[in-house]
Amino acid sequence: MIVKELLKEGNKILRNNHIKTSMLDAEIILSMVINKTRENVLLSEDIKLSKRQINHFNHLIRRRAEKKEPIAYIVNHKNFWNYEILVDRNTLIPRPETELMVEKLICHFKNKKPFILDVGTGSGCIILSLLDEMPDSKGIAIDVSFKALQIAKKNCKRLNLLSQVKFMKKSIKSNFNYKFDLIVSNPPYIERHKLKNLDPGIRNFEPKIALDGGNDGLDVIRKVIYKSRKILKLNGLLALEIGNGQYKKVSKILSDNNFKEKFLIKDYKDNVRCIISTLVI
Ligand SMILES: C[S@@+](CC[C@H](N)C(=O)[O-])C[C@H]1O[C@@H](n2cnc3c(N)ncnc32)[C@H](O)[C@@H]1O
Repeated sequence: MIVKELLKEGNKILRNNHIKTSMLDAEIILSMVINKTRENVLLSEDIKLSKRQINHFNHLIRRRAEKKEPIAYIVNHKNFWNYEILVDRNTLIPRPETELMVEKLICHFKNKKPFILDVGTGSGCIILSLLDEMPDSKGIAIDVSFKALQIAKKNCKRLNLLSQVKFMKKSIKSNFNYKFDLIVSNPPYIERHKLKNLDPGIRNFEPKIALDGGNDGLDVIRKVIYKSRKILKLNGLLALEIGNGQYKKVSKILSDNNFKEKFLIKDYKDNVRCIISTLVI
């Protein structure tokens, strides 16, 4: 069988299983199986595939079609900002909303060298993107998940940033010996009772600890705000990604804790998804 035929077959199976991005996913899966870029796959339409490659492709297509496993977990990476970030089922898959926050922070701190804390680093996508764009900066990345930190460290090594960041397995509730110019976090923020209504690809595959924000979704957000009061430097920034519809509540917690909003970032659907604030004395 040749590339063109296998892609057609994979596309059909995915489409019949209601995967909207069927052709794209088939191409991404095949590019992994034959170890070529997607563009090169498209240029290799008439190349003959081995039996082993066809079996491997069919196995991965079934994972996507039948179990709705996210494509990023199947190919073990996700493009984020300018990078290919490694992910597995212990890390959240980085989202485009988070890129908007990264973009704003890079713009704000251009030519400066902030000392950064990333709370709930997951794959490390946020802090690594920031540090790569700000080579004179340093940072600390924390997470309660040891396995997520292992992936973040691999990403750090791949991006050659080991000298700029320290990874620590700790909760935002624990003690810190430093103060930071920037505290950034994309915390878990989904209301616990809504977890069961999430898409199967999220519900069944992404780590619960990366999603579950407690009864009102704000458990970890509150902890980050309380701690930031103590460990954010004067004029420093707290950048928080929040869930859809949480703006008013989070805004109130921030103002109750002496934070003043500086920038709001909206997503592509015009919802406030990130609040960047500063401490007022
Ligand atoms: C929504 S994910 C974000 C991952 C990554 N920063 C990103 O944007 O893709 C939240 C992360 O917070 C971590 N986490 C949950 N509770 C935490 C806590 N109390 N302190 C530190 N990290 C926590 C989870 O393990 C998870 O990796």
